[in-house]
Amino acid sequence: MDVYDADIEKVLLTEQDIQFKLAEMGERISQDYEGRSILLVGVLKGAFVVMADLSRHIRLPLEFDFMAVSSYGAATKSSGVVRILKDLDHDLKDRDVLVVEDIVDSGLTLKYLLKNLAARKPASLEVATLLRKEGIQQVELDVRYVGFDIPNEFVVGYGLDYDERYRNLPYIGTLRPSAYGGS
Ligand code: IMP
Ligand code: MG
Repeated sequence: MDVYDADIEKVLLTEQDIQFKLAEMGERISQDYEGRSILLVGVLKGAFVVMADLSRHIRLPLEFDFMAVSSYGAATKSSGVVRILKDLDHDLKDRDVLVVEDIVDSGLTLKYLLKNLAARKPASLEVATLLRKEGIQQVELDVRYVGFDIPNEFVVGYGLDYDERYRNLPYIGTLRPSAYGGS
């Protein structure tokens, strides 16, 4: 992805690292849910890339739904105050629901979402996230499937943005200081 090369400080996870991990996660999910069908719930926008690739490693009947939320506050920090911008189309009642996330940082967004979704009485409710930032979750969260635990740095790529850019990078990396602020 040459157009972004000058902005990337270091590559944390290569395209191959990510694809290998998603295949592994997909296999675990396929085994855990054997004989059932899953409703995948993606949190826009970041999760759309993870969802597309992960879903193709799940050997089960799947349905997809998406939710859009916005957390108030600074661009690179989550405040935990979440507003639902687009709700799900599916009724969750008695469904096996698997929420797919790109990253769990403070965990505040996810905690809010899980509470909201649990109130709709799904048969089961679990979370699969590609990334989890180490040691800084502000809330207790039971995340069933975690791809990688990463250090507490701001990362972009593979769905993750800074100021809406870099989502289409096939790998995950950190930004050079010069990439912040100017656009
Ligand atoms: P939370 O802190 O777990 O509530 O994270 C909420 C959202 O912040 C995530 O779903 C991402 O969209 C965004 N986010 C958190 N950490 C990063 C990062 O390192 N890079 C890009 N977006 C991030
Ligand atoms: Mg973002």
